[in-house]
Amino acid sequence: MIEYRNLRVALLGAGSVGSQVATLMLEHSDELAARIGAGLELIGIAVRNVDAPRPDTVPRELLTTDAESLILGADIVVELMGGIEPARSYLLQALSSGADVVTGNKALLANHGPELFDAAEQVGAQLYYEAAVGGAIPIIRPLRDSLAGDRVQRILGIVNGTTNFVLDRMDSEGESLEAALAVATELGYAEADPTADVGGYDAAQKAGILASLAFHTVVPASAVHREGIEGITLDTVVQARNGGYVVKLLAIAERIVDPISGEDGVSARVYPALIPRTHPLAAVRGANNAVFVEAEAAGPLMFYGAGAGGVQTASAVLGDVVSAARRHVAGGPGVGESTHAELPALPIDAIRTRYQITLSVVDQPGVLAAIATIFSEQGVSVEAVQQGAPGGDDPTATLVIVTHEETEADLAATVRELEKSDVVTRVVSVLRVEGL
Ligand code: HSE
Repeated sequence: MIEYRNLRVALLGAGSVGSQVATLMLEHSDELAARIGAGLELIGIAVRNVDAPRPDTVPRELLTTDAESLILGADIVVELMGGIEPARSYLLQALSSGADVVTGNKALLANHGPELFDAAEQVGAQLYYEAAVGGAIPIIRPLRDSLAGDRVQRILGIVNGTTNFVLDRMDSEGESLEAALAVATELGYAEADPTADVGGYDAAQKAGILASLAFHTVVPASAVHREGIEGITLDTVVQARNGGYVVKLLAIAERIVDPISGEDGVSARVYPALIPRTHPLAAVRGANNAVFVEAEAAGPLMFYGAGAGGVQTASAVLGDVVSAARRHVAGGPGVGESTHAELPALPIDAIRTRYQITLSVVDQPGVLAAIATIFSEQGVSVEAVQQGAPGGDDPTATLVIVTHEETEADLAATVRELEKSDVVTRVVSVLRVEGL
């Protein structure tokens, strides 16, 4: 048997994921070499500060602040620094020198993916990014390879652990959003700036990556409609529970027909939505992630597991390192980016979905008829109405109205009319209903 030379691996970043990648790569080196058919040599770990506290399993002698020299000597560059710069420049340098790249950097891929894929293609290098979406969950490779013979129709993903943890605590423990977020931050789930989680920015980057892969089209983060969970109150969560729903921050990627052109396009969007408690995604608790894929031939598939965490995400990174290393040993080009479909990314106005509108109304005869007239004048069809009992001396009642599938524009016009109506004291919440 031919003995293949050791493959040189440069690691950029030794934070919670990077230090676990280094640890596992060194601890499991014999096993990895047997699986690859060549050894992996960790030639160095580029960090900003060599004196920052790290686990003892990360050898101090491998730490360097000179990332550029490290990249020059590598066959595989693993980037786990996060952020756009200098990560982008380092990866372009690595790819232009012919090294394969493994990254977990969702922000970089969502904003500069095409530039990196082009650089890789020019030299026949590979770009792997399983860790960028869903932490430990294998979802990039299933979409890119396993489902390459099928047609994906829709993806519904819970791809942000922090917001799922927060919404789950509100639902199961009756905690406020602020209290639950403080726990998530303490447990280390949240991004350095939790606005990235709560505002849906992290999920939007992941939605763009999933939509691009699923629909063979470039969908940058800027084309993803984004709404966060800031406005979700405990009352909304409790009321959803009473109605048989749970509130989840969903990342949705869907192939739909553009109502204007009549042509197919891609809708990528992130917003808090109601899903029935019987839907498989409703069972995703705590900081876990899940991606529910609906494919034409395969039908519904669900990928579930730890969406964050150092050692869990390191598993996905190491899987990519093994893939890159195997290609070095076997030779030949790998899989490039697939963007042949070139579908337009459609605005939120192109979608049709169901809505739940909660109203505080005057509790007197004729109110229901007045509300029904507003819906019918806007051409919005009501599927169900539920009336909550007024509390004590409260002169108002709560009406919860669920519509059939409608457009965003018709829904917005209806809400505007409801706000103007004398019988409506307040539009309490408007939420989309998904997963039906
Ligand atoms: N802050 C992210 C989350 C980490 O909560 O899911 C993983 O991307």
